[in-house]
Amino acid sequence: MYVRRTVSAFVVLVLMLAFTVQAQRLPTGVRPEHYALTLTPDLQTATFRGEETIDVMLDAPSKSITLNAAEIRFDEVKAYVLPVAAYTYGKLGSQPVPLSAMQSDKHPQIAKITLDAAKEQATFRFPEELPAGKVTLEIRYTGALNDKLRGFYLSKTKTRNYAVTQFEPTDARRAYPSFDEPALKATYDITLIVDSGDTAISNANIVSDKAGPVAGKHTLRFATTPKMSTYLVAFLVGDFKCSEGKSDGVPIRVCSTPDKVELTKFALESAKYVLHYYDAYFGIKYPMPKLDMVALPDFEAGAMENFGCITYRETDLLVDAKAGDVPEKKRVAEVVAHEMAHQWFGDMVTMQWWDNLWLNEGFATWMETKPVAEWHPEWKFPQDDAQSLDETLNLDAQKTTRTIRATADTPDEINEMFDGIAYGKAGAVIGMVESYLGKEVFRQGVHNYLQAHLYANATAEDFWNAQTVNSHLPVDKIMSSFVTQPGVPLLTFSERQTGNVPVMQSRFFLSSAVGNKKGQGWTVPVCLKTNGQPICRVLTPEDASLPLPMDVGAPVFYANAAGKGYYRTAYTRLQFSAILAKAETALTPPERIGLLGDSWALAASGRSSIGDYLDLVMELKQDPNAAVLDTVQKKIEVIDSDIATKQDRAELAAVLRRQFEPVYAALGTPAKKESFDRQQLRGILFQLLGDAEDPAVLSQAQQLTARVFDVNNKKDKTLDATLADAAVLVSANNGDHALYEKVLAVSKNSSDPGEQTDALRTLARFRDPALVKQTLDYVASGAVRNQDSWTVLVALLRDRETRDQTWTYIQKNWDKVHAQLTVSSGAEVVGAMGSFCTVRQRDEVAGFFADHKVDAAERTLAKAIDSINDCVQLRDSQELNLHQWLASQRR
Ligand code: BES
Ligand code: ZN
Repeated sequence: MYVRRTVSAFVVLVLMLAFTVQAQRLPTGVRPEHYALTLTPDLQTATFRGEETIDVMLDAPSKSITLNAAEIRFDEVKAYVLPVAAYTYGKLGSQPVPLSAMQSDKHPQIAKITLDAAKEQATFRFPEELPAGKVTLEIRYTGALNDKLRGFYLSKTKTRNYAVTQFEPTDARRAYPSFDEPALKATYDITLIVDSGDTAISNANIVSDKAGPVAGKHTLRFATTPKMSTYLVAFLVGDFKCSEGKSDGVPIRVCSTPDKVELTKFALESAKYVLHYYDAYFGIKYPMPKLDMVALPDFEAGAMENFGCITYRETDLLVDAKAGDVPEKKRVAEVVAHEMAHQWFGDMVTMQWWDNLWLNEGFATWMETKPVAEWHPEWKFPQDDAQSLDETLNLDAQKTTRTIRATADTPDEINEMFDGIAYGKAGAVIGMVESYLGKEVFRQGVHNYLQAHLYANATAEDFWNAQTVNSHLPVDKIMSSFVTQPGVPLLTFSERQTGNVPVMQSRFFLSSAVGNKKGQGWTVPVCLKTNGQPICRVLTPEDASLPLPMDVGAPVFYANAAGKGYYRTAYTRLQFSAILAKAETALTPPERIGLLGDSWALAASGRSSIGDYLDLVMELKQDPNAAVLDTVQKKIEVIDSDIATKQDRAELAAVLRRQFEPVYAALGTPAKKESFDRQQLRGILFQLLGDAEDPAVLSQAQQLTARVFDVNNKKDKTLDATLADAAVLVSANNGDHALYEKVLAVSKNSSDPGEQTDALRTLARFRDPALVKQTLDYVASGAVRNQDSWTVLVALLRDRETRDQTWTYIQKNWDKVHAQLTVSSGAEVVGAMGSFCTVRQRDEVAGFFADHKVDAAERTLAKAIDSINDCVQLRDSQELNLHQWLASQRR
């Protein structure tokens, strides 16, 4: 009886929940076709006025219309009913019906407006029923230019204000009342009324620019856009200056505030290369009449793919074409390529709903290195891709991971979809499928898919069906098994038997506590390394072995050729030692990165000893590829910080010094015309040895740092930039007040956004408690831009030496700190709590954030707790192993 009642109460609760969630969606039956928007921002009073007409199609007669609106004040809403023939929209470039035609309906109905702030909706109720068919809504409203970096917001420099937009995922409704769902596409006519000295940039090109309507203003009208989703609309107002170029006949501009226009050249060159590359790759030409890319002084994300009008945070677009270093340029080129890929994947073809966000972000992630890798092969993007894949596999091996496609209905849930699964996992799964099908077959499938859904929407099935039809291979089975199941497959191999290699599939968890869950299986292409093209076999959940010819002509049995497979592998001892013996000669750098990743993961899950991992590290210590050593260095940091006891830490440092000093020495001093990779490698080894308190490196760091900050020798040309950066980071760890003040000055005064944020991050490296406090006070004071505050906090929380003090400070000063965070950066800070490694702190974190809710951070908090648990497990299971390994290294 009791159970019955609880069950039915539960059912009611679930139904109620389902209803509220469902109610966040707009009612069906009303489809927008065209928006005409006139906006008049006032940059002084931080307000704006909007005049809007929306042409909608009603499926059935109705007395009311509901759309999205948030923090908007409505002045008046009317509905006009017009003869259908008056409308001729739908084609790119077609002219909208002029306003006067609308006025021909002499009897507009005036709406009664009700607002539902919680649902971010407005309902217009009309005295008489509106007929089925076309209706035009005419809306006059006002709003505030907010300081929350979303919707229509104010972005400030020392000298002036800008009015700019960021709408994805659900903030278009804060700038214009709209049917704010990605499948409700429409065309747009945008008009902006701005100060005489200012300009405006929007999705389409300017078609007219006239003085008025009042003195001191001019009116800019933009061309009609193609059909597009609400979240891709953009309008930016201010005194932007641009550099201009052209690619495949498309005019491209890269714009910034006037003082920074010198830094736009590199991004322009990137965009020119990428546009031409994509035109050819997709077999579909870039569709907009122009492409603008604009750096904004305050910007929450890295960049945003608004159709024809991409916005960036300054550090992701602006870099000195001559003096800028390669990592900065790589970052800019990659972000540019990511956002430009979205012009096809996302803007022309959009996911039907946010549950399939991966169709946007996974594709852009997979695509972002492609054109740049071709442009600059020496930047070695395949190795970066291998590192990202490794990190993603670890993320996805946590208990709290999610499926690639996942339900998301409320704005908070939708915001939380922008995570390592939508980006990293989806990108990696796409990369695996491409590698299995072959580049050209895959490209053709991509083309077919896009072509079939231009200016419309698509689902996961649309994509994998297109690839299946084109390739005649089971892409649908492969992709659906990765998109609808959570987690990472572990392939455990046995010794080869005639004609096949036995293999067992299970779900891999990073933590030994979870154990090896059976029952999940994937359809996965497994590619074996050979002397030539890899041999791929599709392993299904039913298979227990891979059929293979006796002699595949392989140097070793390595079951993840090219390192593109989305799985972990476990070999037999015999197989593993054969691989180990040939790792440096027979495997490619991405394969070695994968091998290191698998080995780490097996140790973390308790399947092997951290000693085995460290043996592999020592085997690979002379690897000439920076990315391989970078992978190593990051894990050594974890060992040092989370596994080693205090005493073992000192011993570990001694081993590292002994092993890596000669490797570093062999690199010699920086030479002119050295490869980028070699420079990076030196920087990584320098940091590794600096962390290991190598006396020679520490004193070299001091000397180099002195030269960096030598006021009499500004821009010392003989300094190697990579080494100088590493030196400043090492010195800052042990730095005093005097050095701190110098770094602080750069973070405040530099006119180069990259240099400025680097300095800000360097501040977080100082470990003296008095300086840590100064940094925290600085962030809490509001003097750091909201877009950057979180990076400082996250860096302080990640460092073993500073995280406790930072955590105490955050708890004590939460209101001040929280006020410095935006929606997504609040979640970043919550995520960084995952760096703790004790049960006490885990409980503190859980308790604190239960009382101090952070928006859109629910899953992030669960993941952080998960990470702490995993870390505690890792220490428990490996502390002794590490101790023993260190003992074995004693001589
Ligand atoms: N569409 C996103 C921007 C975005 C992110 C909007 C989160 C709303 C919420 C954009 O394409 C993107 O992915 N930007 C990345 C940079 C990219 C190179 C990974 C970002 O902002 O970090
Ligand atoms: Zn993206």
